Amino acid sequence: MNDLKLYEMAKEAMVNAYAPFSKFSVGAALLGESGQVYTGVNVENSSFGATICAERSAFVQAVSKGERRFQKIAIATSDGEAWPCGICRQFMREFCDEDFPIITGDPENRIVTYTLGQLLPEGFRLEEGGTQIRDK
Ligand code: THU
Repeated sequence: MNDLKLYEMAKEAMVNAYAPFSKFSVGAALLGESGQVYTGVNVENSSFGATICAERSAFVQAVSKGERRFQKIAIATSDGEAWPCGICRQFMREFCDEDFPIITGDPENRIVTYTLGQLLPEGFRLEEGGTQIRDK
């Protein structure tokens, strides 16, 4: 699937965002290695810290279905181009390598792509047993 199609799926997903407090709606579309797309939205909470971002919603959907390897993710917001927050970058790093593509764009479908390594250089990850995985 091409980047633009995945971005359009993120935009479609965004309509289900639950963002009554920030009014900042976000949709994510995550392409699994299997070819299946998992979508997610931000789900806010009256206790603000309980809010979950769209990106993590999508990953939780995917992992809950048994998918753990991913091709790329697209993110759309009600305010155009936006990059994942720090927590989501770290969350992605658990399942994705530094070359994992992250796509965002604006309402006119002008999309831009970065890699996870660009947005989270030298990210932290443990292997089972507690040893750090070092990319460099
Ligand atoms: N948000 C996301 O869903 N993804 C991001 O990458 C940035 C922030 C959400 C969380 C909250 O519901 C709203 O946007 C404002 O921070």
